[in-house]
Amino acid sequence: MDALEAIRKRRSVRKYTGEAIPREDLETIVDAGRLAATGGNRQPWDFIVVTDGGMIDQLKVAAGWMDKAGAIIAVVMDPTSRWWIEDGSAAIENILIACTALGYGSCWLEGWTLRHENEFKVFLGVPEELRLLTLIPIGVPAEWPSKEKKPLSEVLHWETYTG
Ligand SMILES: Cc1cc2nc3c(=O)[nH]c(=O)nc-3n(C[C@H](O)[C@H](O)[C@H](O)COP(=O)(O)O)c2cc1C
Repeated sequence: MDALEAIRKRRSVRKYTGEAIPREDLETIVDAGRLAATGGNRQPWDFIVVTDGGMIDQLKVAAGWMDKAGAIIAVVMDPTSRWWIEDGSAAIENILIACTALGYGSCWLEGWTLRHENEFKVFLGVPEELRLLTLIPIGVPAEWPSKEKKPLSEVLHWETYTG
């Protein structure tokens, strides 16, 4: 699948079959995150890949449907870095697109993760001074939702905002 096809196909997938994901694929997926654009090339991130079923079970307080994920990637950021949220977001989107390209479903789970940030940081051994920006559950998809998007004609302007 080429990059544009993966971008077009990507959707938040929240139902998985429970099948395991090969370690090699998880490395490819994290590598896509590592290669994202980052302000000043600071790369203020770490990625924790959780594949242990018991640990996934603990993390599912963020979202019960994660229990059938084959893996969860925790995106850990250094908040002293000037563009940490933008950098983290770029890495997350790369990861979601890589998942799609490899045929996996995934979801950017930030809102629900942040509610449990402190307990997840302790659980995952994340140093106090770092932030847990999001969890990304990944799995073999049991469904591929469609989601309405604004049409291109509504958001694309040529030359000026009113154009
Ligand atoms: C910053 C951000 C936070 C998000 N947090 C959550 C979340 O906590 N739980 C969840 O189920 N989805 C979350 N999502 C996924 C969005 O709900 C989803 O991207 C949006 O509904 C559009 O659907 P699509 O991803 O299928 O295009 C989040 C997405 C972003 C970009």
